[in-house]
Amino acid sequence: MDLRPEVVLNTTAYHRVDECESRADLAYGVNALAVLNLLRVANDLQSVLVHISTDYVFDGRARTPYTERSEPFPLSVYANSKLAGECLVRTMAKKYISIRTCGLYGKAGSQGKGGNFVQTMLTKAKRGEPIQVVSDQEVTPTYTVDLADQIACLLPTENFGLFHMTNEGSCSWYEFARAIFELSGIDADLSPTSSEFYKTPAIRPPFSVLENARLKELGLNRMRHWRDALAAYLK
Ligand SMILES: NC(=O)c1ccc[n+]([C@@H]2O[C@H](COP(=O)([O-])OP(=O)(O)OC[C@H]3O[C@@H](n4cnc5c(N)ncnc54)[C@H](OP(=O)(O)O)[C@@H]3O)[C@@H](O)[C@H]2O)c1
Repeated sequence: MDLRPEVVLNTTAYHRVDECESRADLAYGVNALAVLNLLRVANDLQSVLVHISTDYVFDGRARTPYTERSEPFPLSVYANSKLAGECLVRTMAKKYISIRTCGLYGKAGSQGKGGNFVQTMLTKAKRGEPIQVVSDQEVTPTYTVDLADQIACLLPTENFGLFHMTNEGSCSWYEFARAIFELSGIDADLSPTSSEFYKTPAIRPPFSVLENARLKELGLNRMRHWRDALAAYLK
């Protein structure tokens, strides 16, 4: 409290999506109720709350990218708990930026998931393992450095509310894996599979591509294509 931050950035989540199906208490505790505590603190300090949410708030039945005006319809406990967090922010935070992003990877790796997708692919390939990746879930992989840069650029403009923030373009997880190996010059034993074959406890949306519509309307979209971001990360 003594620090009196101008900005409180919440990157916390319980996001082991499959575990959340049997741990709704923990999912709602971390992804919603803890957000309520945090926004109260931010309100008291008159800070801007920057809150990170997810592409999974959509059901994936659309065929064109979701904008901030699209209706959410979450399919899993994780996604519902994240939407609950968003709703608390929208209704109770005095100054907030709520950000939906997708397929994050970055230098630190996702601590909660034990690494990120790029690291997992490279590790498996180095071990010479056969790798199967779903080709029927379309996303936009997003580099955390680009996300951080975009947030830093948005904050001083004092445009608040809900924003979609991902790199540009889209691909399936299989296409993303293929690009990782292409750009790294690795000849991996990679093949596509389907969600039907690779069953998980939580249902994931088959299409969760987001349009950075508000950023574009404001002339503030700095996000590059996911392939360029991936090349920069691997370099
Ligand atoms: N990863 C993705 O692909 C993705 C996609 C869309 C949206 N998001 C959202 O982006 C944000 C960041 O995700 P990330 O993958 O970068 O996460 P991450 O690296 O795993 O970071 C999540 C943080 O949450 C903290 N945390 C978890 N449970 C906690 C608890 N009970 N009490 C206090 N702290 C707790 C963890 O702390 P410790 O380090 O101490 O464990 C960790 O630092 C999340 O809001 C997530 O929903 C992620």
